[in-house]
This record gives sequence, structure tokens and C-alpha cells, in this order.
Amino acid sequence: MKVVKTIKEVREQVNAWRKEGLTVGLVPTMGYLHEGHQSLIRKSVEQNDRTVVSVFVNPIQFGPNEDLEAYPRDLNRDMQAVEEAGGNLIFNPEPSEMYPSHFTSFIDTTETTELLCGAVRPIHFRGVCTVVGKLFNIVKPDRAYFGQKDAQQLATIRRFVRDLDFDIEIVPCPIIREEDGLAKSSRNTYLNPAERQAALILSKSLKLGQQAIDAGERNAETIINIIKTNLKTEPLARVDYVEVVDFANIQRVEKIEGETLVAIAVYIGKTRLIDNFIWK
Ligand code: PAJ
Repeated sequence: MKVVKTIKEVREQVNAWRKEGLTVGLVPTMGYLHEGHQSLIRKSVEQNDRTVVSVFVNPIQFGPNEDLEAYPRDLNRDMQAVEEAGGNLIFNPEPSEMYPSHFTSFIDTTETTELLCGAVRPIHFRGVCTVVGKLFNIVKPDRAYFGQKDAQQLATIRRFVRDLDFDIEIVPCPIIREEDGLAKSSRNTYLNPAERQAALILSKSLKLGQQAIDAGERNAETIINIIKTNLKTEPLARVDYVEVVDFANIQRVEKIEGETLVAIAVYIGKTRLIDNFIWK
């Protein structure tokens, strides 16, 4: 397993693999890797001859008052995690490698980024799509792996890949959770013990929503109310949003019928956590 810092080195390595006729999978991450990320790497290792993992805390997807500086970083730990999951190459560029001076071109999206995180983090998805588009052009993978944990991100990347004709298969991967139900996230490290306990309210509330749908409830507003009411029972929790949308377009639905995304964002203390489920 190798770590490289420059675009040139990635291209040289991938070109060498291509000459041998090998297929390549890409797992884009911001590092501080956990079992959620490792599940994506393992899936890629299963489906491709070689797997590239990018570890890059992408500055252009953070708003001015967000956690860019505080975001946890530990390359040695990440190297072990990639090695353990069977990845072959880590691309860990400096921001200046990805964004030279006078960087002024972006991938911007509309429909799928209007609601949920797009509504409260205005420049976030432009930053995500731009860096992912760059990584696609740098690595030129056959397949790229994204977690359903960030369901709006997944829907948005699928859309720009289709709209802009990137010849890459997007492989969705299920949410990996802690034993008690909390979705794994690099940001869980911000939680103190009381907050860690309080954070269980996200998965518990979603479960109540899921149970109601399974029992036959189809009214989106009713599901939203069930989830919000339960979230409000936790004094450390402050609801950012609870939304029911169609998964393909990320637009609100009144009735739950097709593939539906039920997504929430909740502050636990100062830490903003997201979670969701997809109902088919
Ligand atoms: P990051 O938050 O590091 O996540 C990298 C990938 O891991 C994403 O596809 C995310 O959905 C997936 N992931 C995170 N937690 C997961 C979990 N508990 N179960 C399954 N998958 C999980 O998402 C980003 O980075 C960035 O926005 C990025 C796409 C790398 C662009 O900068």
C-alpha cells in the first residue's frame, strides 16, 4: 500500500495498472477512516483489481462557520485502515495541489441540492461535486463507491455523473452503524459521553418513522411529526431538518409511494449529525 501526494503520481500508478489490463475502483473520503469507509473499500476490493482511496479534507465544501479546522485528521491511522481493508493506494494531496491559485471552475447542481443539507449548507454540494469530479478525472476509475449515509450526496453525484457523461459506475453502499444504532461518522469523535448517549435519539426516531411506514402509514407529514416529536424528547438534541423526499430527485413528497428517502439532521450540542433510511 502506497501513499502519494501529487496528481502526477496517481496518474503514473493508474496508467501502469491500466497497461496490465487491471480495473480500478475509487473510494473518495475525508479521512479519519472508520468501518463505514472500510465497507466501501472492501466492496471496491471485491469488484476491482486495484483500489484507490483519496484522503482529503476538501476546504471548498465547508462553509465559513463550519468545522474545517477542527475536522479530525490522522494519516497513520488511515494508512492502517486502508491496508486492513485491502486498498492499494492512498491519494493524500495538499489543498494547493487540488486548488492552484486562480482556481475558478466548479461543478454546480440544482434539483437534488435544493433541500435537506443543500438548503442549510449553501456551497457544500458545489464543493463536493467539484472535488469528486476532479478525483474522477485524476483517477479515471471504472467504479466509485459512496455511502448511503450521505444519501443526498449519493443522489447528487449520480445525477452529475449522468448529466455530464462521466463514464463511471457509481456503487451505493449501506449505512454502517455502531452496535447501539448510531451511524458511524468521523464527526462522532466530537461528542462527549453524555452527547454520545443523546445521539442515539437519531436512529431511534428514524426507527419509529420506519415502523409507522411498515405498518401502512403513507402520509409524509405524519411520518415527519412522529420523528420530530420523538427527537424533541432528547434535551441535548436540536432539530435542523426532518424531510421526506423521493430519493432520485430529492424533492418533497406528500405521499410515500416510490423509493423514498427519510432524512434528518440534528444538532447534539454543537455537533451536527445526519442519518436516514430509504424506503422502497
Ligand atoms: P466522508 O464523510 O469521509 O465520507 C466518505 C464516504 O464514506 C462517503 O461516501 C460516505 O457516505 C461514506 N460513509 C461515511 N460514513 C459511513 C457509514 N457509517 N456507512 C457507510 N458509508 C459511510 O463524504 C465525504 O467524505 C466527502 O463529501 C467526499 C465525498 C469525500 C468529498 O469530499
